[in-house]
Amino acid sequence: HDVIHLPDTKFTFDGVFGTFDRASAQRGFQVYKEVCSACHSMRQLSYRHLTGIGLNATQVQALASQFQVQDGPNDNGEMFERPARPSDRFRRPFANDAAARAANNGALPPDLSVMVKAREGGADYLHALLVGYEEPPPGVTVANGMHYNKYFPGHQIAMAAPLNTDGQVTYADGTKSTVDQMATDVTTFLAWAAEPELEQRRALGVRMVIFLTILGGLAYAVKRKVWANLH
Ligand code: HEM
Repeated sequence: HDVIHLPDTKFTFDGVFGTFDRASAQRGFQVYKEVCSACHSMRQLSYRHLTGIGLNATQVQALASQFQVQDGPNDNGEMFERPARPSDRFRRPFANDAAARAANNGALPPDLSVMVKAREGGADYLHALLVGYEEPPPGVTVANGMHYNKYFPGHQIAMAAPLNTDGQVTYADGTKSTVDQMATDVTTFLAWAAEPELEQRRALGVRMVIFLTILGGLAYAVKRKVWANLH
């Protein structure tokens, strides 16, 4: 298909010195929880992982207990529901892929655990996709149950614009939840989920460059000294 130019969205985690904006990631989790999780699983995540975006143990405990998860079998061989614990995986919206497709017109909402790593363009693509819904250009017919999106490869996507109204979620910290803000926040959350160790990885890289620079300078000084009397 045609080459699609992604807008370069500014994220705090861009660049070698970038870090995740914890407040944004927390708002993004709220967007995931209230909007995306109706269709998308995040199988790699447990509630306890959310300490990584700045929730404390009490908050994680309270949050997990809002969800009912399947457990069992008990001593009578029965499955049962119980409130989730921090060690439980995120609750999945559908029992299996067939049920997910049945609820989505045949299309499968992919797991979002590592989505930011899975698509070319990463976070820029995700943000663009979420704000990229528009009327199809003249002459383009959109198939039944599909939606026109400027940035989706092929432009016809089975997912209707999930973020479509300013104020769709109410942020506890008072941030205005414009569509663009919600897209940035949920993308930040998903970028953190896909690579929670990004900050440590980069910090190690920076320390390594500093170390090698010093070591290189030292080696050069030694070389100058050792060879100083050679004419
Ligand atoms: C696909 C994100 C909400 C149903 C996708 C994709 C992403 C995504 C990244 C993959 C696009 C690609 O393949 O390149 C999100 C986010 C949401 C959200 C961040 C919340 C803000 C929803 C909701 C539904 C849904 C609420 C169901 C009502 C789907 C389906 C697909 C999809 C069916 C497959 C589309 C296709 O392959 O044509 N979503 N989604 N999504 N999503 Fe969502």
